Amino acid sequence: MNVLVTGGAGYIGSHTCLELLNTGHSVTVFDNLSNSSEESLRRVADLAQKEIVFVKGDILDNEALEQVFAQTQFDSVIHFASLKAVGESVSKPLEYYHNNLTGTVNLCYAMQNAGVKNLVFSSSATVYGLPKSLPLTEASPTMIHEVTNPYGRTKLMLEFVLRDWQTANPNFNVALLRYFNPVGAHESGQIGEDPNGIPNNLLPYVSQVAVGKLDQLGVFGGDYETPDGTGVRDYIHVVDLAAGHVLALNKLATNCGVVTYNLGTGNGYSVLEIVKAFGEASGKPIPYKVVDRRPGDIAACYADPALAKSELGWEAKRGLKEMCVDGWRWQSQNPNGFNA
Ligand code: NAD
Ligand code: UD1
Repeated sequence: MNVLVTGGAGYIGSHTCLELLNTGHSVTVFDNLSNSSEESLRRVADLAQKEIVFVKGDILDNEALEQVFAQTQFDSVIHFASLKAVGESVSKPLEYYHNNLTGTVNLCYAMQNAGVKNLVFSSSATVYGLPKSLPLTEASPTMIHEVTNPYGRTKLMLEFVLRDWQTANPNFNVALLRYFNPVGAHESGQIGEDPNGIPNNLLPYVSQVAVGKLDQLGVFGGDYETPDGTGVRDYIHVVDLAAGHVLALNKLATNCGVVTYNLGTGNGYSVLEIVKAFGEASGKPIPYKVVDRRPGDIAACYADPALAKSELGWEAKRGLKEMCVDGWRWQSQNPNGFNA
């Protein structure tokens, strides 16, 4: 298949491009590099020993979108391009609504004009807000007023936008993939997550403590109703997540309309379990201190991934150890990310 990957130079996008090339697809990446580097794509092409087409462009730029669709007849689009920093979305809501909502609507117009009818969209477990019961299934309620930040609201709003778009165009197909907590890196250590500034998410923070860039981890809350009092999440290896996208493309090719899948492992790990596992993987104990809860955080969140297994034939193969070992390989070999 000819696949257009928006945001393909980023963390999940680069791993998905590699998976696409390795499974025989042709890939064009459209990315404005606002949170990534072209170096990731050079490394992807090296790892796959295949070519990847890169177009530097912005989904807010309709002309640039039109051009990329005019150059190649794509079979499908995987849409990663998005701003994603939760804290920043609170201080810059308009930037988030503009980039994520307007950008996605622009992309849909461009697809429609070019007759490209298959779209995979990066959604998030954040759409479930405060879970009423665990594990979360795709039928668990999603409530806009319970999503705690503008970034998360863009994801839930876009799920509605894309469903409405498909209803009006019944021959279009949309896969809404709700990621749980993507972590780790490709086993080569060549590509991985390269956050700007001080990381907000747990694993990048812990790896920067292990590599000596940060002194200690602040554990956000030790009094949650969880086995050890710290937050529990469903961490998923980014390479497993990437594989889910390729299988979602196959599903769209069956003309399935709108489908929604949780991509998680079904296992929840606490912050302290992550600290221990990463310490073992890196051989560096992770100093930490329990501090106040982070506003907006929930106690626990993990997936029921059964639907993705039965309908896509997808399930996570890599466990916590691989997530930490592969994440550490990337971090220790590239202490300054792609700018090394
Ligand atoms: P990332 O920031 O590494 O990748 C996003 C890419 O989109 C970047 O390369 C960035 O340069 C590009 N981009 C942003 N705005 C753009 C625009 N206007 N035009 C063109 N390119 C643009 O993020 P990621 O972690 O790889 O996430 C990929 C997708 O998955 C995002 O949609 C994100 O919201 C979603 N998601 C991520 C997580 C996570 O924990 N990483 C969890 C759930 C959902
Ligand atoms: C966060 C986002 C969510 C986004 C997801 C992507 C918030 C409120 N939510 O979710 O919208 O979809 O990332 O992966 O930011 N923790 C610490 N210390 C730290 C960092 C995190 O103790 O320095 C804890 C958190 O309290 C949480 C766990 O680690 O219990 C995971 O945190 P994080 O990696 O930020 O992910 P989420 O909170 O699940």
